[in-house]
Amino acid sequence: MKQDEKRLLITGGAGFIGSTLVEMLLARPEARVLNLDKVTYAANPEALERFALADNYRFAKGDICDRPLVERLLAEFRPQGIMHLAAESHVDRSIDNAAGFLQTNIMGTHVLLEAALAYWRGLEGAEREAFRFLHVSTDEVYGSLGPEGLFREDSPYLPNSPYSASKASSDLLVRAWHQTYGLPTVVCHASNNYGPRQFPEKLIPLMIIKAQGGQNLPVYGKGDNVRDWMHVSDHARGLLAALERGQVGQTYNLGGGVELNNLELVRRICRLLDQELAGSRQEPHEELISFVPDRPGHDQRYALDIAKARRDLGWTPQVKFDQGLADTVRWYLDNRDWWERILKESYDGVRLGLA
Ligand SMILES: NC(=O)c1ccc[n+]([C@@H]2O[C@H](COP(=O)([O-])OP(=O)(O)OC[C@H]3O[C@@H](n4cnc5c(N)ncnc54)[C@H](O)[C@@H]3O)[C@@H](O)[C@H]2O)c1
Repeated sequence: MKQDEKRLLITGGAGFIGSTLVEMLLARPEARVLNLDKVTYAANPEALERFALADNYRFAKGDICDRPLVERLLAEFRPQGIMHLAAESHVDRSIDNAAGFLQTNIMGTHVLLEAALAYWRGLEGAEREAFRFLHVSTDEVYGSLGPEGLFREDSPYLPNSPYSASKASSDLLVRAWHQTYGLPTVVCHASNNYGPRQFPEKLIPLMIIKAQGGQNLPVYGKGDNVRDWMHVSDHARGLLAALERGQVGQTYNLGGGVELNNLELVRRICRLLDQELAGSRQEPHEELISFVPDRPGHDQRYALDIAKARRDLGWTPQVKFDQGLADTVRWYLDNRDWWERILKESYDGVRLGLA
């Protein structure tokens, strides 16, 4: 291994956030990336093709639950850090069938922790000192807020969906592997991400795709559930800051600080489409909004206090929401092929998660 190389094992690097992170890393000359991804329905095959052109990139198609595979990859690649993003990530799917969420998010994290611990114990000196296991988690583990207040890193865990319960479980395993065995872990809790290449089952791409096609825009309940939105590139930069500057055993909230209720968010998307597609429809896209039965157990509000990440990681979100949302709408309009393939092959836009 060359002295100045930074070798990182990324799990889930074909997903929405993982592929943004891998892209950022590949632009750094010192980075060597090994991406372990099972390539589920949520993966971006097109991103994998792009990455394959880079000299500092390797891909392993496989499951984080496969311990012999994970052990072999660690022994061969000898990473200085692991950034663990692989997960089943869609709340509505977890309501329909939680089994895959428990398997990947909990048991898969357990496999990675065990393999990482054995690998880390075999390291010596500065390599052992510098190694980090960065676990990527969500603000959803904290449960739901009323109209006031923010989640802090010491807020209690009160997950309400099968997805958030599986992420909370994995966070607690990470904590235990640090407290009990000394594995040098760092955990980040991110708010809702948006940006290009997000799978069309998620709120923002779903609304853009349906609205541009003149279809009904199904808003859950009264549309008054509030989320804190962060651009995916800000998240990826925050994860790198946490890897490089995070204190071992600490957790950090990463959020965009932009709170919007779902109805207001959908209205903003509609207004952007009114401008982008001026002349293609007589009536405003807002008229496509319809209210549908709420998600069972739908958390009312998420909002994060990110003071700790600002202070200790020197990180702050940079993408202005209005610009980031406008660019995202433009990206989906410009990349029809990308989402049309998904709609044809793996997701037809139907409502999921009604229990
Ligand atoms: N999207 C968000 O808004 C958000 C917010 C906070 C935290 N997170 C967390 O960030 C991480 C990444 O989220 P995302 O939105 O990019 O998810 P995603 O669903 O877009 O991608 C997940 C990736 O993991 C891979 N994967 C799934 N199961 C696997 C397994 N068993 N073995 C190997 N690979 C597997 C998939 O193929 C896919 O490429 C997740 O841990 C998620 O919980 C996401």
